Amino acid sequence: MIITIASFKGGVGKSTTALHLAAFCQMRAPTLLVDGDLNRSALQWASAGNLPFKVVDEKAAVKFARNYEHIVVDTPARPAPDDLKTLASGTDLLILPTSPDALAMGAMLQMVDALQGLEADYRILLTLIPPAPSKVGEEARSSLERAGLPLFKTGIRRLAVFQKAALEGVPVNEVKGDSYAGIAWRCYLEVGREIMP
Ligand SMILES: Nc1ncnc2c1ncn2[C@@H]1O[C@H](COP(=O)(O)OP(=O)(O)OP(=O)(O)O)[C@@H](O)[C@H]1O
Ligand SMILES: [Mg+2]
Repeated sequence: MIITIASFKGGVGKSTTALHLAAFCQMRAPTLLVDGDLNRSALQWASAGNLPFKVVDEKAAVKFARNYEHIVVDTPARPAPDDLKTLASGTDLLILPTSPDALAMGAMLQMVDALQGLEADYRILLTLIPPAPSKVGEEARSSLERAGLPLFKTGIRRLAVFQKAALEGVPVNEVKGDSYAGIAWRCYLEVGREIMP
Protein backbone atom coordinates (compact mmCIF):
# COMPACT_ATOMS: atom_id res chain seq x y z
CA MET A 1 0.00 0.00 0.00
CA ILE A 2 1.21 3.53 -0.74
CA ILE A 3 0.36 6.10 1.95
CA THR A 4 1.21 9.77 1.42
CA ILE A 5 1.15 12.46 4.12
CA ALA A 6 0.50 16.01 2.94
CA SER A 7 -0.56 19.44 4.21
CA PHE A 8 -0.51 23.04 3.12
CA LYS A 9 0.64 24.15 6.55
CA GLY A 10 4.04 23.33 8.06
CA GLY A 11 4.59 21.87 11.51
CA VAL A 12 1.35 19.91 11.76
CA GLY A 13 3.02 16.55 12.32
CA LYS A 14 3.50 15.24 8.78
CA SER A 15 6.96 13.81 9.38
CA THR A 16 5.99 12.45 12.82
CA THR A 17 2.96 10.78 11.25
CA ALA A 18 4.93 9.40 8.30
CA LEU A 19 7.53 7.92 10.59
CA HIS A 20 5.11 6.26 12.99
CA LEU A 21 2.86 4.90 10.28
CA ALA A 22 5.95 3.46 8.63
CA ALA A 23 6.78 1.82 11.97
CA PHE A 24 3.24 0.41 12.07
CA CYS A 25 3.36 -0.86 8.46
CA GLN A 26 6.75 -2.46 9.09
CA MET A 27 5.11 -4.70 11.72
CA ARG A 28 2.93 -6.06 8.92
CA ALA A 29 5.33 -6.22 5.95
CA PRO A 30 8.59 -4.67 4.67
CA THR A 31 8.10 -0.91 4.52
CA LEU A 32 9.97 1.95 2.88
CA LEU A 33 9.68 5.53 4.14
CA VAL A 34 10.29 8.04 1.36
CA ASP A 35 11.43 11.45 2.56
CA GLY A 36 10.14 13.76 -0.14
CA ASP A 37 10.77 16.97 1.82
CA LEU A 38 13.99 18.90 1.23
CA ASN A 39 14.16 19.64 4.97
CA ARG A 40 14.91 15.89 5.26
CA SER A 41 13.29 15.52 8.69
CA ALA A 42 12.65 11.83 8.22
CA LEU A 43 16.19 11.15 6.99
CA GLN A 44 17.52 13.09 9.96
CA TRP A 45 15.35 11.01 12.30
CA ALA A 46 16.78 7.93 10.62
CA SER A 47 20.39 9.10 10.77
CA ALA A 48 20.97 7.63 14.23
CA GLY A 49 20.44 4.26 12.56
CA ASN A 50 17.80 3.11 15.02
CA LEU A 51 14.67 2.93 12.89
CA PRO A 52 13.16 -0.48 12.17
CA PHE A 53 12.58 0.34 8.48
CA LYS A 54 14.46 1.87 5.57
CA VAL A 55 14.30 5.61 4.80
CA VAL A 56 15.38 7.05 1.44
CA ASP A 57 14.94 10.33 -0.41
CA GLU A 58 12.53 10.62 -3.34
CA LYS A 59 15.28 10.13 -5.92
CA ALA A 60 16.34 6.80 -4.47
CA ALA A 61 12.72 5.73 -4.01
CA VAL A 62 12.31 4.51 -7.58
CA LYS A 63 15.16 2.09 -7.17
CA PHE A 64 14.06 0.72 -3.80
CA ALA A 65 10.28 0.72 -4.12
CA ARG A 66 9.97 -2.68 -5.79
CA ASN A 67 11.42 -4.46 -2.76
CA TYR A 68 8.79 -3.17 -0.35
CA GLU A 69 5.18 -4.06 0.29
CA HIS A 70 4.30 -0.73 1.90
CA ILE A 71 5.56 2.73 1.03
CA VAL A 72 4.95 5.78 3.20
CA VAL A 73 5.74 9.16 1.66
CA ASP A 74 6.50 12.31 3.67
CA THR A 75 6.09 15.52 1.67
CA PRO A 76 6.92 19.22 2.01
CA ALA A 77 4.34 21.73 3.24
CA ARG A 78 2.62 23.86 0.58
CA PRO A 79 2.69 21.56 -2.45
CA ALA A 80 2.05 23.45 -5.69
CA PRO A 81 -1.29 22.56 -7.37
CA ASP A 82 0.48 20.36 -9.92
CA ASP A 83 2.44 18.59 -7.21
CA LEU A 84 -0.77 17.94 -5.30
CA LYS A 85 -2.24 16.35 -8.41
CA THR A 86 0.80 14.08 -8.74
CA LEU A 87 0.71 13.20 -5.04
CA ALA A 88 -2.99 12.41 -5.16
CA SER A 89 -2.81 10.20 -8.23
CA GLY A 90 0.29 8.30 -7.12
CA THR A 91 -1.03 7.08 -3.80
CA ASP A 92 -3.60 4.66 -2.35
CA LEU A 93 -4.38 6.85 0.65
CA LEU A 94 -3.62 10.51 1.24
CA ILE A 95 -3.47 11.51 4.91
CA LEU A 96 -4.01 15.16 5.81
CA PRO A 97 -2.71 15.82 9.31
CA THR A 98 -3.91 18.98 11.03
CA SER A 99 -3.61 20.38 14.49
CA PRO A 100 -7.00 21.53 15.83
CA ASP A 101 -6.22 25.28 15.76
CA ALA A 102 -7.99 27.60 13.36
CA LEU A 103 -5.00 28.34 11.11
CA ALA A 104 -4.09 24.71 10.56
CA MET A 105 -7.74 23.70 10.11
CA GLY A 106 -8.19 26.47 7.54
CA ALA A 107 -5.16 25.30 5.58
CA MET A 108 -6.42 21.70 5.74
CA LEU A 109 -9.85 22.72 4.42
CA GLN A 110 -8.11 24.51 1.53
CA MET A 111 -6.38 21.26 0.70
CA VAL A 112 -9.69 19.39 0.83
CA ASP A 113 -11.01 21.93 -1.69
CA ALA A 114 -7.95 21.51 -3.89
CA LEU A 115 -8.51 17.74 -3.86
CA GLN A 116 -12.04 17.99 -5.22
CA GLY A 117 -12.20 16.35 -8.61
CA LEU A 118 -8.84 14.62 -8.21
CA GLU A 119 -10.30 11.23 -7.27
CA ALA A 120 -8.02 10.99 -4.27
CA ASP A 121 -8.89 8.76 -1.36
CA TYR A 122 -8.03 11.03 1.57
CA ARG A 123 -8.56 11.07 5.31
CA ILE A 124 -7.98 13.82 7.87
CA LEU A 125 -5.90 13.09 10.98
CA LEU A 126 -6.16 15.38 14.00
CA THR A 127 -2.69 15.83 15.52
CA LEU A 128 -1.09 17.76 18.36
CA ILE A 129 -4.34 17.59 20.38
CA PRO A 130 -3.77 19.47 23.64
CA PRO A 131 -4.71 17.82 26.95
CA ALA A 132 -7.85 18.61 28.97
CA PRO A 133 -9.19 21.06 30.03
CA SER A 134 -8.70 22.26 26.44
CA LYS A 135 -11.61 21.21 24.28
CA VAL A 136 -10.18 22.31 20.92
CA GLY A 137 -9.57 18.70 19.85
CA GLU A 138 -13.20 17.69 20.42
CA GLU A 139 -14.49 20.90 18.86
CA ALA A 140 -12.38 20.35 15.76
CA ARG A 141 -13.61 16.76 15.52
CA SER A 142 -17.27 17.76 15.82
CA SER A 143 -16.97 20.45 13.17
CA LEU A 144 -15.28 18.04 10.73
CA GLU A 145 -17.92 15.39 11.42
CA ARG A 146 -20.70 17.91 10.89
CA ALA A 147 -19.11 18.82 7.56
CA GLY A 148 -19.14 15.11 6.66
CA LEU A 149 -15.41 15.00 5.97
CA PRO A 150 -13.50 11.71 6.16
CA LEU A 151 -11.67 11.63 9.47
CA PHE A 152 -9.68 9.09 11.46
CA LYS A 153 -11.54 8.05 14.62
CA THR A 154 -8.24 8.22 16.49
CA GLY A 155 -6.54 11.53 17.09
CA ILE A 156 -2.90 12.09 18.03
CA ARG A 157 -2.34 13.68 21.41
CA ARG A 158 0.20 16.44 21.94
CA LEU A 159 2.86 14.73 24.02
CA ALA A 160 6.43 15.86 24.61
CA VAL A 161 7.66 12.29 24.22
CA PHE A 162 7.24 12.69 20.41
CA GLN A 163 9.94 15.37 20.46
CA LYS A 164 12.14 13.15 22.58
CA ALA A 165 11.73 10.37 20.03
CA ALA A 166 12.85 12.69 17.22
CA LEU A 167 15.92 13.73 19.22
CA GLU A 168 16.82 10.12 19.95
CA GLY A 169 16.19 9.00 16.37
CA VAL A 170 13.69 6.30 17.35
CA PRO A 171 9.94 5.77 17.03
CA VAL A 172 8.15 6.88 20.18
CA ASN A 173 7.55 3.31 21.41
CA GLU A 174 11.30 2.93 21.80
CA VAL A 175 11.82 5.94 24.06
CA LYS A 176 12.97 4.59 27.42
CA GLY A 177 11.98 5.92 30.83
CA ASP A 178 9.02 8.06 29.73
CA SER A 179 5.66 6.83 30.97
CA TYR A 180 3.91 8.55 28.04
CA ALA A 181 5.77 6.54 25.39
CA GLY A 182 3.14 3.80 25.37
CA ILE A 183 0.21 6.22 25.23
CA ALA A 184 1.84 8.12 22.37
CA TRP A 185 2.56 4.95 20.40
CA ARG A 186 -1.00 3.67 20.87
CA CYS A 187 -2.32 6.78 19.08
CA TYR A 188 -0.49 5.80 15.88
CA LEU A 189 -1.10 2.10 16.43
CA GLU A 190 -4.85 2.78 16.38
CA VAL A 191 -4.55 4.95 13.27
CA GLY A 192 -2.59 2.15 11.60
CA ARG A 193 -5.32 -0.34 12.50
CA GLU A 194 -7.93 1.97 10.96
CA ILE A 195 -5.94 1.81 7.72
CA MET A 196 -5.06 -1.90 7.87
CA PRO A 197 -7.40 -3.68 10.30
N1 LIG B 1 1.74 14.65 18.71
C1 LIG B 1 2.77 15.48 18.96
N2 LIG B 1 3.01 15.90 20.21
C2 LIG B 1 4.03 16.74 20.50
N3 LIG B 1 4.88 17.21 19.58
C3 LIG B 1 4.70 16.82 18.30
C4 LIG B 1 3.65 15.94 17.91
N4 LIG B 1 3.70 15.76 16.57
C5 LIG B 1 4.74 16.48 16.14
N5 LIG B 1 5.35 17.12 17.16
C6 LIG B 1 6.49 18.04 17.10
O1 LIG B 1 6.07 19.20 16.37
C7 LIG B 1 7.08 19.61 15.49
C8 LIG B 1 6.56 19.50 14.04
O2 LIG B 1 6.30 18.14 13.76
P1 LIG B 1 6.67 17.51 12.33
O3 LIG B 1 8.09 17.82 11.98
O4 LIG B 1 6.26 16.09 12.37
O5 LIG B 1 5.69 18.36 11.42
P2 LIG B 1 5.76 18.58 9.84
O6 LIG B 1 4.36 18.83 9.41
O7 LIG B 1 6.49 17.47 9.19
O8 LIG B 1 6.61 19.92 9.75
P3 LIG B 1 7.28 20.51 8.40
O9 LIG B 1 6.18 21.14 7.64
O10 LIG B 1 8.27 21.50 8.96
O11 LIG B 1 7.92 19.39 7.67
C9 LIG B 1 8.28 18.72 15.76
O12 LIG B 1 9.10 19.35 16.71
C10 LIG B 1 7.65 17.47 16.36
O13 LIG B 1 8.54 16.78 17.21
MG1 LIG C 1 8.13 17.45 7.93
